[in-house]
Parts: sequence; structure tokens; C-alpha cells
Amino acid sequence: MHTPLLSCADPLRPAKADPHFAAETQAARSLGAETALIDHDALLAGDARAAVRRVPRGFGAAWYRGWMIPVARYGELASALAEREAGLIVSPEAYRRAHELPGWYSVFADRTPASVWADGVPDVRSLGPGAGIVKDYVKSRKHDWDTACFVPDLADRAGLRGVVDAFRALQGEFLAGGIVVRAFERFMGPETRVWWLDGRPVYVGPHPDTPDVSVEPDLAGIAELVAKLDCRFVTTDVVRRADGAWRVVEVGDGQMSDRPPALDPEVLIGALTSERVQPSGRFPTAGGGRAGED
Ligand SMILES: Nc1ncnc2c1ncn2[C@@H]1O[C@H](COP(=O)(O)OP(=O)(O)O)[C@@H](O)[C@H]1O
Ligand SMILES: [Mg+2]
Repeated sequence: MHTPLLSCADPLRPAKADPHFAAETQAARSLGAETALIDHDALLAGDARAAVRRVPRGFGAAWYRGWMIPVARYGELASALAEREAGLIVSPEAYRRAHELPGWYSVFADRTPASVWADGVPDVRSLGPGAGIVKDYVKSRKHDWDTACFVPDLADRAGLRGVVDAFRALQGEFLAGGIVVRAFERFMGPETRVWWLDGRPVYVGPHPDTPDVSVEPDLAGIAELVAKLDCRFVTTDVVRRADGAWRVVEVGDGQMSDRPPALDPEVLIGALTSERVQPSGRFPTAGGGRAGED
């Protein structure tokens, strides 16, 4: 038996997968797994029952691969699926832990930039002097770096407030949770995205922002933190700091992490839907031996 896969329907052709995820649903079907589609627009509009109308009754507990879902809406999706004897393998609690910075921060605190968060402008005194980064619980406005992301000097409280205000205005209704401020660290080289399934790195490769470059990370110590987080399917974006230390820039729920073109949909979906997880990927032994020793 294969674990089924839920994905997002194409808003224009609801019986078909959204083109962004079509290769993954196709891979699932060709591997022998059941697939079904949810209406992501209906879910975000607050009509979870309508969102799952096309999920067959008795579909069972499934992985989801699709567009991001706010934590509260994810809970509504789980409830609506349960009414149809379907469900999500990743519980709403586990989803929150992996998806939102306050959920994973304490576990990764030694390996990720120091961070504070609040509904308004956070108290940044504990971050010390220097530059900072503004984001919400899930996303930054990294493409608006100078106006709504980077804070040159956290001691300049008016400057910080200006960046937070600009960030809030741009996020609008899509602001996830509250405002996070992180101490700026000097990184070098591209980020590498590590896909972890049941504590094992099933794929290590480029970050979607830099699809053509990736470096082999040193995952020593990171696998232990992923195990401690206790979420079955997560990604960690890791990068080398100027002093050489490997840092975790962010953690994400693997169900919503963007798949770089280099990650073959069959590799990802095969790992998810088959009963036995087979480590594979571009750097199959990078930390994998350590994580897979048990
Ligand atoms: N604390 C930090 N120090 C230095 N650069 C950072 C820091 N946090 C984020 N960045 C940079 O900003 C980018 C976006 O931040 P990230 O937390 O990954 O948000 P997003 O969810 O939008 O990708 C990162 O890829 C990294 O280049
Ligand atoms: Mg990122």
C-alpha cells in the first residue's frame, strides 16, 4: 500500500492538478499512489468543506504537497478531511511547529540567528548591537531588502519601526502570525535545502532561489535537532557563515517547501508514498550516514 497524496487543484480546471504541482501528482500516480485535489482558494476563503469536495470518502491519511496554508486554515482542512474519512499525516500541531519560526526556534536556537517576535515591534535588546532582519512567522520580503527586510542598525529604533511598518504594509492580509526580528549574520555561498523525512535527509540540493548552485553542507549536529523537532517531513535551509559554521536560516514544513528543478519529483514523491524510505539525492551521504545509523 502506498501513502496517498493530496495536492492543489488548478483554479481554472478544478479536476486537474495545479500546473505547479502536476509533475508531483503525476509521479505519485505512476508510482501507484492515490491522489486527490483540494481547492486551495476555497480553503483560504474559509470554506474547508468546499475545499475537500473532490477528495474521495475513505481516502485515508495523506501527505500534502501544495501551496502554503495558514496554520488556522490547516486545522480546518484537517477537520474537513476527517469528516470524509480522510486526513493529514502531519497534524496541525506538528505543522505549526515546522512552519512557523516560534514553533522551531527553541530547538534550533544554537544553530540559527538569534530571534525575537511580537505582535507589534519586538523588543530587540537581547539581540545585541548590529544589523537585523525583519520577517513574519513564515516569510520575509527579501525582494524588498532595503525597505522591508534589512535593518542596518537595531539600536536605531525609529529605523527598525520604519522597516517593520513597510513590511506590514506589503504583507497586508497575508502577514503570518507576528513580527520576527533576527540578528544579522554574515553568510557566504548559496543556501542548500535539506529535505528530511523521518529524521533522514532524503535529498540535499540547491535552494530554489539559487537553482544552479549548491554546496555540500556539514550536517553534523543538525540531524539531532531535526529529530528533536519531531516532525516527520521538514526542510532546513542551511548556509555557511563567514566564520565557517553551518547555520540553519530557516525550517519549513516539507509539504509546502518549494521543490527546486534539480529535485526529481519521483525521488521526492517516491520517498513520501512508499513504505520504505530510501535515502537518495545529490549528496546521499552528506550527514545521511549519521542520521541513518540506527
Ligand atoms: N539573520 C540573518 N542574517 C543574514 N541574512 C539573513 C538572515 N535571515 C535571513 N537572511 C537572508 O534573507 C533571506 C530570506 O530570509 P528567510 O528567513 O529565508 O525568509 P524567506 O522565508 O522569505 O525565504 C535568506 O535567504 C538570507 O539570505
Ligand atoms: Mg528562505
